[in-house]
Amino acid sequence: MKDLPPANDSDDRHPVQMVAPLTLQQVTRRRLLQTGLGSAALPFFTLPLRSALAAAAIRPAIGFKPIAASRDDRLCVPEGYGVQVLFAWGEPLGATPAFRGDAGNSASEQALQAGMHHDGMHFFPQLEEGKPSSTRGLLCVNHEYTDEGLLHPDGVAGWSYAKTLKSQNAHGVSVIEVELRTGASGEAPHWQLVRPSPYARRITARTPMRIDGPAAGSADLRTRDDWRGNIVFGTLANCAMGVTPWGTYLTCEEHFSSYFNGLDQPTPAQKRYGIRSKGAGYRWHEHDSRFDVASEPNEANRFGWVVEIDPWNPAGVPVKHTALGRFKHEGAMVTLARDGRVVVYMGDDEPFEYLYKYVSRDPFDAGKPAGRERLLEMGSLYVARFEAAGRGRWLALQHGQNGLDAGSGFADQAALLIRTRQAADLVGATRMDRPEWIAVHPQSGEVYCSLTNNRQRSVADAANPRADNAFGHIIRWREAAGDAAADSFAWDVFALCGDPRHADAARRGNIRGDAFGSPDGLWFDPDGRLWIQTDASGNLIERGDHERFGNNQMLVADVASGEIRRFLTGPKGCEITGICATPDGRNLFVNVQHPGEVPGGRSDPNRPLAASGWPASQFAELTGGRPRSATVVIRRLDGGIVGG
Ligand code: FEO
Ligand code: CA
Ligand code: CA
Ligand code: CA
Repeated sequence: MKDLPPANDSDDRHPVQMVAPLTLQQVTRRRLLQTGLGSAALPFFTLPLRSALAAAAIRPAIGFKPIAASRDDRLCVPEGYGVQVLFAWGEPLGATPAFRGDAGNSASEQALQAGMHHDGMHFFPQLEEGKPSSTRGLLCVNHEYTDEGLLHPDGVAGWSYAKTLKSQNAHGVSVIEVELRTGASGEAPHWQLVRPSPYARRITARTPMRIDGPAAGSADLRTRDDWRGNIVFGTLANCAMGVTPWGTYLTCEEHFSSYFNGLDQPTPAQKRYGIRSKGAGYRWHEHDSRFDVASEPNEANRFGWVVEIDPWNPAGVPVKHTALGRFKHEGAMVTLARDGRVVVYMGDDEPFEYLYKYVSRDPFDAGKPAGRERLLEMGSLYVARFEAAGRGRWLALQHGQNGLDAGSGFADQAALLIRTRQAADLVGATRMDRPEWIAVHPQSGEVYCSLTNNRQRSVADAANPRADNAFGHIIRWREAAGDAAADSFAWDVFALCGDPRHADAARRGNIRGDAFGSPDGLWFDPDGRLWIQTDASGNLIERGDHERFGNNQMLVADVASGEIRRFLTGPKGCEITGICATPDGRNLFVNVQHPGEVPGGRSDPNRPLAASGWPASQFAELTGGRPRSATVVIRRLDGGIVGG
């Protein structure tokens, strides 16, 4: 853990807040504050980056006593902390419809309830007297995928249109309004949904959305339903996320290929994206022909994008931004270059896939709301090459450059973006060990990325230094001259995951502190603590690879010293993913995804509680029923900064 070498809207539609008309500056400030980072948002997005030494000098306190690894069917946090379940699968966004523990809710009811398999999320604070609130705001939550065995009372038996519809309605994003209520004397403060809320909204795999950027209107995006190629129904496989400086939410389409029934003999492009016969067994194509590639060859081209949602405008149409490339997007970490251009770091989460960077053509100007909708529409896309000796370069994925032209199979920029992976193959990018979340240090600007694992790797390289990488690592880089728009960078490996005390050399890592494997979620709080969430799959755990780490967990790292402490352990069979906080740092939102998941990810509805009964197994008020993904809130009992 050595030090790195030097290195869509133009107004403020606010449906319920009855306030006097705002000046442009007030509007701008409001939207900035509503990114949720509060006052920290301003330096994060607008000040020049400081040096690594400066970051080390303002090391945040990490004040909790680390907890032990756990195999219990409960969520554990350190002494002095409390947890509540806020938003579990099936929770209604309004007063009704109530969740049915036997999964008996209909498809139309599911469209009014929390989806399944919560992943990335973000808290957008309301403003109170011009300041970002830490007691009321909007929470955007991704619902990445479904376990059909849990979603329907009898699982996949008698697969039908109604089951397809319910599955589609359990995907996408929830926008909910939440508030912290102080109870009667002696009662702990408690978060709850605001019901009704004019902002509450479900976006599903059927919600209409717009396509923009260079590929919009391309012949390869046109379908029977959309002969113009610029309107698509729905978003799916919504994994991690991002937040723009203008206060909108980015949700990222990851394993979209799973939903399509591909051809027996796929085209090279379909093969490169894993669109194969039978997909991952979703069977949507049996009742919705757009997911059958033989019937609608271009529909799959309309997924695999980054989607922008304005949480403050419940009538707003989400936008798929083709300029950011098409691949299996994990997340979209947004920061600003020195000159104000918008920079988005993105990983493609499959073995041997790439790390990307988007740089907008125009700068973000906090004083000019007009034109913001174009910042993710027009810009340049790059892919990373990690070279030996800790240096790296960003390679342009631009038609006419680096051999990307008609001669290499790309007629124009639209074709290149739709087949981003193949363009990246041609320019010689570095094949990574499954890039997951990316986090930017709030003071130094150093960028950290979790590479979760890759057991398929037989040949190590500098940036992916272990063959048969069962535990993953966290890589970090510093852009040249501290400018996020730079075309070169310096990098090193921050953490090689594994257990340093393990007798088997292949299972050792270089962690200082509590051991873990398969890092996934990664987030810096405004004080600079690095929060690490793990996602060791059931298959890995079953093989015994992660036996010393217990259930999936969340840890906190001091990136200056390299010390890592375990903060949270999840219930059986879950993944811990999705993290954000209120601006005051006193309320931490975390997602528990797929408790009780079995290897393969498909439960047997006749034995759904065999692996986990969470959250009912831990929280008496959530009686019975099936295991449910859920958003939890963690607070210190003394009301202090979480982690501090
Ligand atoms: Fe959806 Fe790569 O995690
Ligand atoms: Ca992930
Ligand atoms: Ca993962
Ligand atoms: Ca997952």
